[in-house]
Amino acid sequence: MFNSRVVSAILALVVSGVTTAFVSLIDNTPTNALILAAVMSFVSAFMLSYFSMEYLVFRELQNLHAAIEKLRRKDFKLTKSRFGSIEPIRKINDEMMRYASKKEQEIDELKRIENYRREFLADISHELKTPIFAAQGFVHTLLDGAADDPEVRDQFLKKAAKSLDGLEALVQDLITLSQMETGYITMKIKPLEISELINDIFEQLEKKAQKRNTTLKLDSKPDKKYWVLGDVNRIGQVLINLIENAIKYGNDNGKVIVGLESSKDFVSITVRDNGPGIAEEHQKRIFERFYRIDKSRSKDKGGTGLGLAIVKQIIDAHGSKITVSSKIGRGTTFEFRLEKTVAPLPTTNS
Ligand SMILES: Nc1ncnc2c1ncn2[C@@H]1O[C@H](COP(=O)(O)OP(=O)(O)O)[C@@H](O)[C@H]1O
Ligand SMILES: [Mg+2]
Repeated sequence: MFNSRVVSAILALVVSGVTTAFVSLIDNTPTNALILAAVMSFVSAFMLSYFSMEYLVFRELQNLHAAIEKLRRKDFKLTKSRFGSIEPIRKINDEMMRYASKKEQEIDELKRIENYRREFLADISHELKTPIFAAQGFVHTLLDGAADDPEVRDQFLKKAAKSLDGLEALVQDLITLSQMETGYITMKIKPLEISELINDIFEQLEKKAQKRNTTLKLDSKPDKKYWVLGDVNRIGQVLINLIENAIKYGNDNGKVIVGLESSKDFVSITVRDNGPGIAEEHQKRIFERFYRIDKSRSKDKGGTGLGLAIVKQIIDAHGSKITVSSKIGRGTTFEFRLEKTVAPLPTTNS
């Protein structure tokens, strides 16, 4: 009922009434002049009010309505429109844009996850296929007569066993990764002394290092304790992965140095090797699951391609970040930091 024309006509009538009344106060005003004043003021007031309302309010409301209509159809690609020159309408418009962009982000995120799942499944099938086919091949060859020669038999059995060991390692890593991604594994964050943990791990990896004549060294202030907050098992897993990689992919007679540096709030942990290094284009991607620089070489070394993906998950879950820096021919350094804490009070058993 109250469209802009009716409202403008009413307003214009009032304005022209008041104007004409004022003009009539002047003595001896001719009737023509009065009529002229009435008509002129009506027309100009009408035009002014009609156009301003039409353009400022009704158009804007119509735009707003059209935008809501789009949202209702789940079309979130709202173009940043030019309307919204009136404060409350601008607010509504901004609010809608925020809502739309949030929804759009949600949809993108869902698409990303869906994509990730699909790729993950394809990767897993591919990775499982390799050791299974290999073991299957050896077993069938054995059944087809190769078992008759004891030497060949042992050789084939060993190869089949190696494939199955690789399969087990892969499945183990997959379970860890998926449990971590679904949040099934939660970090048990507690104070831990990292230099002691590193020495324990050096002992565990001593044999592997000796095989390549690699020296493992801790670079920290002697006798200094480095208390940090973290899940001791998971951080141990991270360090094992990084140090093992440094041994595996480093050179023979190489050096692996784990450095600890304490700043005001953090302890930064670096794992450095003097191996062949990682080219820039690979550095971004080595944390992706199943990403290997040299596929056959990594498989020879019993790698699943999931080590660094797990490392990244664990460090992320500690609210930190892992970075890599490397120069071809010079070696590679992985770095992450953990929050510093004070040594827990010794528990007294009295
Ligand atoms: N210290 C390193 N020096 C050179 N290359 C490395 C190093 N650490 C990791 N890489 C490369 O990154 C790839 C991914 O590592 P990772 O996720 O641990 O998988 P893998 O199971 O192959 O060890 C490895 O295949 C290797 O090519
Ligand atoms: Mg590895």
